[in-house]
Amino acid sequence: MTAFSEVLVTGGAGFIGSTIASACSDAGLRPVILDDLSTGLRSFGERFAFYEGDYGDAALLRRVFAEHPGIGAVAHCAASIVVPESVAEPLKYYRNNVAKVVTLAEELLRADCRRVLFSSTAAMYAPSETLVVDEQAPLAPGSPYAASKQMVERILADTAKASSLKVIALRYFNPVGADPSLRTGLQLPNPTHVLGMLLRAKQQRQPFTVTGTDWPTRDGSGLRDYVHVWDLALAHVAALERFDEVMAGPTLGPGYDVVNLGTGRGTTVFELVEAFRKAACPDLEVRTAGPRPGDVAGACASADKAARVLGWRATRTLEQGIADAEAWSRKMNG
Ligand SMILES: NC(=O)c1ccc[n+]([C@@H]2O[C@H](COP(=O)([O-])OP(=O)(O)OC[C@H]3O[C@@H](n4cnc5c(N)ncnc54)[C@H](O)[C@@H]3O)[C@@H](O)[C@H]2O)c1
Repeated sequence: MTAFSEVLVTGGAGFIGSTIASACSDAGLRPVILDDLSTGLRSFGERFAFYEGDYGDAALLRRVFAEHPGIGAVAHCAASIVVPESVAEPLKYYRNNVAKVVTLAEELLRADCRRVLFSSTAAMYAPSETLVVDEQAPLAPGSPYAASKQMVERILADTAKASSLKVIALRYFNPVGADPSLRTGLQLPNPTHVLGMLLRAKQQRQPFTVTGTDWPTRDGSGLRDYVHVWDLALAHVAALERFDEVMAGPTLGPGYDVVNLGTGRGTTVFELVEAFRKAACPDLEVRTAGPRPGDVAGACASADKAARVLGWRATRTLEQGIADAEAWSRKMNG
């Protein structure tokens, strides 16, 4: 149970935001979606109260809060998310992911909506020799995308210190899968998420390319912590339900905390490809190539803080993630 009845989900017509919206709705919290449909789907947004537009549009935000006085929290998921694109077009990323957050934070304070969950990323961690990172691990974002997320964390932390805004930055590892009830899933026609790319390779009967095979991992391919998107969504519900409790406890900064959302298990890209072959596509042809711009060796989460602070642990397996993603892809593409 939360002290409020509605939650604003920016980017709620996208892959993760739409899943969070479903999980909130299942838990009795009404989602209000704000999305500009730059990559999201109208059909995902229109399942709930839906506003088409920019999360950096002050007038639109005021209308949303005026029409939904029950909103007591925001899950801020809206962003541009493609790492190589961010290398080619950094200003697009700094404008869309960073600059607009100033307006959002101002309007949240104006509307007295003080609880913020921010969709952050584990891509900002510095390479770690142990390949496991906790929330205190050093940061060294390897791309404008990851840097944009670190900058937003800083903006929100400074604002929390100076005002009544309260923020939990949730650093996602690598989301896979789809809502197990198949209400929504990965919607992008050209996904950059590795599992989406595997599914596309299967559909188009094309080889799959593992990019980067010289990383300091057990088989040279990147190490990732694949977390089922439904588990990720449930972590947001837990964070909303415990929000005030978390803020009353010890936090990283005044009114500000950071929590990793991962499984704590590392899987290399080659291991993922093998699991995908077994589960879905035994004759998939695999090639290798050099790393893409902005790629990193990767790491897996230390997931202890999420368990301690949010009472949340990921429970779904990689195989379930593959099966749900495949089922969604069949539903979406026929
Ligand atoms: N997918 C991942 O691997 C991953 C990993 C870590 C963190 N994240 C973060 O999770 C969040 C959601 O990612 P996703 O995978 O669902 O991506 P997505 O592209 O499916 O969703 C992003 C949504 O935001 C919307 N959007 C973009 N700019 C907007 C703007 N200015 N105003 C309103 N809406 C806007 C898009 O239309 C889309 O619906 C992002 O903040 C991303 O940085 C994603």
